[in-house]
Amino acid sequence: MPRTRVVILQIGDVHFPEASRGRSDVDLKDASFPSALIGHLGGNALQAVTRSVQAVISSNKCDAIVLMGDLTSRGDKQAFWRCLQFLEQAFLRKGVTPILPDRMVVIPGNHDVNREDAKSPNLEEKFDHINALLNKAGMPEIKIDRSPVIRISKGAAALRIFGTNTCVGCGTLRWFPDLVREKLITTYDAAIAEAMSDSDQRKILDDLYETLDTPMVVDALIASLHDQIKSTNDFTIVSGHHNLVPQATPRIAPYAEMINCGRLRDALLGTRRKVIYLHGHVHDDPIHVITNPNNKSGALISIGAPLMTDGFNLIEIEFAASTSSALGCRVRKYRLKNGVVAEQPSTEIPLALDEQTTLSEDHRKMLEFINEKRMAYGWEVLEKLKFAQDRMEEIADDLTWQNKISVERYSGVPQWVFKRAY
Ligand SMILES: [Fe+2]
Repeated sequence: MPRTRVVILQIGDVHFPEASRGRSDVDLKDASFPSALIGHLGGNALQAVTRSVQAVISSNKCDAIVLMGDLTSRGDKQAFWRCLQFLEQAFLRKGVTPILPDRMVVIPGNHDVNREDAKSPNLEEKFDHINALLNKAGMPEIKIDRSPVIRISKGAAALRIFGTNTCVGCGTLRWFPDLVREKLITTYDAAIAEAMSDSDQRKILDDLYETLDTPMVVDALIASLHDQIKSTNDFTIVSGHHNLVPQATPRIAPYAEMINCGRLRDALLGTRRKVIYLHGHVHDDPIHVITNPNNKSGALISIGAPLMTDGFNLIEIEFAASTSSALGCRVRKYRLKNGVVAEQPSTEIPLALDEQTTLSEDHRKMLEFINEKRMAYGWEVLEKLKFAQDRMEEIADDLTWQNKISVERYSGVPQWVFKRAY
């Protein structure tokens, strides 16, 4: 029986339109250098990465695309819509398996929140324009207290992708005593009215609002996510703009991290499942595996995506053919360097170490044979154990993901070299 693989394309913060204006990779030290020549010295990063994503979609069977938010900057509604249109035209309905809009998750980032809309005391209201646009595009809406779910099923294997809104507190005003607050808003409103240009106005707004971003999810969402994950046997991926652990670069800012990420983290670990968490925001690509020694069956695998102008991740989840449980996750990293997107060494994370402690008779036989010989060729295993080639391949994958053996895969299965893992 062939093994099943679900492939998810993870794309980080876009920050449109700045990204489209080009961040050509030229070290420009002479401001008076003719701009007409600069374009011929360094390519546009967004265009290069877009072409590479299109090539990956064309040659891989991608099942879904997850965008990590921050499609725009400073809550620019027009730019958000243009970015969504750009993504739709560039990536959807293409490739070996056409991707439909309902297989694309777009979660909001702090920069997608419009600062004027954020003044409303109704927390949901500032996401209305985002949800209206997602709805128009046929993509799942992101409410603050419930997650949209995409279900992908292939044979006996199934996977669910949940989108979470971690930007509920973004753009909200810090509470001051009424008198101070009134005066502060009046002063800022007057400064905005007097601002000579849009950029001056933005600077004033940034000054008032940027430091008041408060990443968080509403408590009801945590409970609902926990219950939904517990109630299904499908493998789970949760996506949110903000990370669940502090970023590596020290950040001096109030509320720099999600203020209730500890509670969300514990709730996801409390499902006693292996859960993958995809995020953006930090413009970096850290990978963390969070475990609790008192809860060996649970683990949280957090995977960050870089800025879209730096590249993207292809997340492959492999399922065992016989049991349909997730065996492992491979993060394939495509990164832009010197104008070219190239695949870097991937990161492989086993997902079934504790769940699959009971091996089948065939698994045990092959493991014993390899352990005894220390090293065996594929043809030796086939001859000794009388397996069909695809059965041997399947068992080899299972044992590799469980770190019980290593395999050097040459052209034909009989030429493969199996080695014991210790
Ligand atoms: Fe960002």
